[in-house]
Amino acid sequence: MRIAVLKETVSGEPRVAATPETVKKFAALGAQVAVETGAGTASGIPDADYQAAGAEIAKSAKDAAKGAAIVLKVRRPSEVEVKALPKGALVVGIMDPHGNEAAVSALADQGVSAFAMELMPRITRAQVMDVLSSQANLAGYRAVVDAAAEYGRALPMMMTAAGTVPAAKVFIMGVGVAGLQAIATARRLGAVVTATDVRPATKEQVESLGAKFLAVEDEEFKNAQTAGGYAKEMSKEYQAKQAALVASHIAKQDIVITTALIPGRPAPLLVTQEMVESMRPGSVLIDLAVERGGNVALARPGQVVVHNGVKIVGFENVPGRLAATASSLYARNLYAFVETLVDKNAKALAVNWDDELVKATCLTRDGAVVHPAFQPKA
Ligand code: NAI
Repeated sequence: MRIAVLKETVSGEPRVAATPETVKKFAALGAQVAVETGAGTASGIPDADYQAAGAEIAKSAKDAAKGAAIVLKVRRPSEVEVKALPKGALVVGIMDPHGNEAAVSALADQGVSAFAMELMPRITRAQVMDVLSSQANLAGYRAVVDAAAEYGRALPMMMTAAGTVPAAKVFIMGVGVAGLQAIATARRLGAVVTATDVRPATKEQVESLGAKFLAVEDEEFKNAQTAGGYAKEMSKEYQAKQAALVASHIAKQDIVITTALIPGRPAPLLVTQEMVESMRPGSVLIDLAVERGGNVALARPGQVVVHNGVKIVGFENVPGRLAATASSLYARNLYAFVETLVDKNAKALAVNWDDELVKATCLTRDGAVVHPAFQPKA
C-alpha cells in the first residue's frame, strides 16, 4: 500500500498534508510513503526529515503518485494534478466542492475516489478528523495576533510610571470554533472582550471565557441553531435589529474580529461601511470570512485596506499563516481518517463504503460523482 503526499500547487498555500510524525504512523500501518520533494518546505519540514521518518522522496508529483493507493493533499488537486492521479486511488483533502461541480466531475472522470475532509460529520467519533475545527481554531488565534500587530496601541492595561495605558476593547462577531479561540486569545492578551452570535448556545460559552455577550435575544434568536449546530440565515428584520444593536457598540471598539459563516451560503454582511466609519482612526477590523464573501464592507481578499485611518484586514488562508502548526494538526486529522480505511492485520486498504464517515465525505467513486449534494449540473 503506497501513500503519496503531494506538494501543494495553489499559490499562497504553505501547508502540507503529512508530517514526519504521520509518516511514521502510516509506516506502522504497513504503508510505503512517498513525499514529493519540497512538499514540506513552506511548513518548515525539509525532505530529510521525511526521509528520516521512513518516507521516500519523489522528484515530482507524478513520481510520487505512481502506483499510490492513497494520495494526501491539502487542497483539491488542480486540473494538471488530477491527470497524475492513478485510477482507483483514494484522494483525501479539502475539496471545496460547493460551486465547483466541474472540478468534482474531473476527479470522477480520472477514476479516483475523492474524499472531502470538510464534509466530515461533527460527531464524537470524527472529532479527531475535523479539519474545519483544527484549522478554524488556529485562524481564530492568528486573527488576534494579526490584529495586535496591526494595532498601534497595546492590548493589555498597563500601569507605568509614565501613566496608565487602557486595555483595548475587542469585539468578536461569530462565536464558532474560530471565534471562541479569538475570545480566549484576546483575553490572554489582556483585552476587554465582548462577542456576539445568532446561536443562543454561544451565550454561555462566551461568558465562560470571561467575555460579555451582546445580541438581540428575541424568539427568532432562540430558534437560530440548526440540529447540526450551525447558524441559520436570519430574517431581514432580525439582521436590522442586530445591526442597530452592534452599530453603537462597534463605534466604541478598538478591534473587531468577524468569523460569521453559514454553511453553503455567502457570509452575512455584519459591519457596514457606516459602522467602519464610526470607529476611531487606528482601529482594526479582521475579516476571517473574507474568502466567503466577507462580513465587513470594504474588506478585500488578501489586502489591508485603510479607510479613514481604520485598517480592514482581509488576509486569506489564515491557518496557513501558522503553516507549521496548521500542517501538524491537519496531518493528524488525515491520519485519523485514513486509519479507518485500512485493515490493520492485512495491512491493506479495506474501505467500508457503508461507514457514515465515508458516505458523508466521498464525492466520487468508480468514475462517477456519488455524493448526492454535488451531482453534475444537467
Ligand atoms: P461556522 O464557521 O460555520 O460559523 C462561525 C460562527 O458564525 C457560528 O458560530 C455561527 O453561528 C456564526 N454566525 C452566523 N451568522 C451570524 C450572524 N449573522 N451574526 C453573528 N454570528 C453569526 O461555525 P463553526 O465554527 O464551524 O461551528 C459551528 C458549530 O459546530 C458550533 O456549535 C460548534 O460548537 C459546533 N462544532 C461541533 C463539533 C463536534 O464535533 N461536535 C466540532 C466543531 C464545532
